[in-house]
Amino acid sequence: MNAPDFLTTHALSVEKALTSMLVTRQSVVADVLLEAMSYSLLAGGKRVRPALLLESYRVCGGEDLQRVMPAALAIECIHTYSLIHDDLPCMDDDELRRGNPTCHKKFDEATAILAADALQALAFELLAAMDVDAELRCTLLHSLALASGCQGMVGGQILDMQAEFDAASGKSMELLQVERIHLHKTGALLHWCCEAGARLAEADAIQLEACSRYGKAVGLLFQIADDILDVTASSEELGKSAGKDAEQHKATYVSLLGLQRSRELADEMRDIALDACHPLAGEGVPLKSLAHYILERGQ
Ligand code: IPE
Ligand code: IPE
Ligand code: MG
Ligand code: MG
Ligand code: MG
Repeated sequence: MNAPDFLTTHALSVEKALTSMLVTRQSVVADVLLEAMSYSLLAGGKRVRPALLLESYRVCGGEDLQRVMPAALAIECIHTYSLIHDDLPCMDDDELRRGNPTCHKKFDEATAILAADALQALAFELLAAMDVDAELRCTLLHSLALASGCQGMVGGQILDMQAEFDAASGKSMELLQVERIHLHKTGALLHWCCEAGARLAEADAIQLEACSRYGKAVGLLFQIADDILDVTASSEELGKSAGKDAEQHKATYVSLLGLQRSRELADEMRDIALDACHPLAGEGVPLKSLAHYILERGQ
């Protein structure tokens, strides 16, 4: 499926803003560190998370996209850091990311780890410097710490690694365990984007709840679709190594339920996301098209 036009437009403005943000650091950051950070951050990527944040902001009545851009950059920094670590030999051991050699292959492991660490801190720096009400800024910082740390993405990544070792030693896996892994390792950051967009637009309680429900559903949907693509798409299409999940005994919906049932569950998640959009301005049409895209994308 083709990406919605606004996804391309947002990706271009996010990349422009990321580039100028990195340029301002040239005189204060060691060359190799900035090079590795820029290499991974500017290597492409669909920029789905910034689009979720910006469109959640818009469907809750937000108009000034430039004002909220630092939050979109922050989530892309956290996401890129998570990918650099995810690809390390001690984790998923991947050589290809966003169509290029992974950060540790292009540079070395120490540089990759440090570039990812720096991107993580940079995300919080960007949020902390945002020109918004202090209480809102604090809420965004606190919620991003929760979504990205031990109760969120990092927490999910450790469960993913443990499940891999359990599977290799013959232990069976329950559906609820896979759901828990996916909601944490991937869902938490996508959910944050939708809630943060709504909060930045000063959404009322109904709009915030709608974005939150939508974000939770697309968060899980995103990882189910990623698991399906790992089996059905090629490395060329994905820009990352296909077929790795089965090889590494990863806990995925596909390994547990097979392709057909995983697709049905993904359809159910998409419908929950679509249903959540009703109270939003214009019935949340852009968020609906993002939900369709997240399920039907080819990469
Ligand atoms: C890949 O995320 C990692 C997952 C959480 C499944 P994306 O599919 O959004 O990767 P990019 O940013 O487009 O490269
Ligand atoms: C990664 O999930 C989730 C992250 C927190 C980065 P995967 O390990 O399935 O992501 P890919 O397939 O390598 O992009
Ligand atoms: Mg992984
Ligand atoms: Mg991986
Ligand atoms: Mg994957």
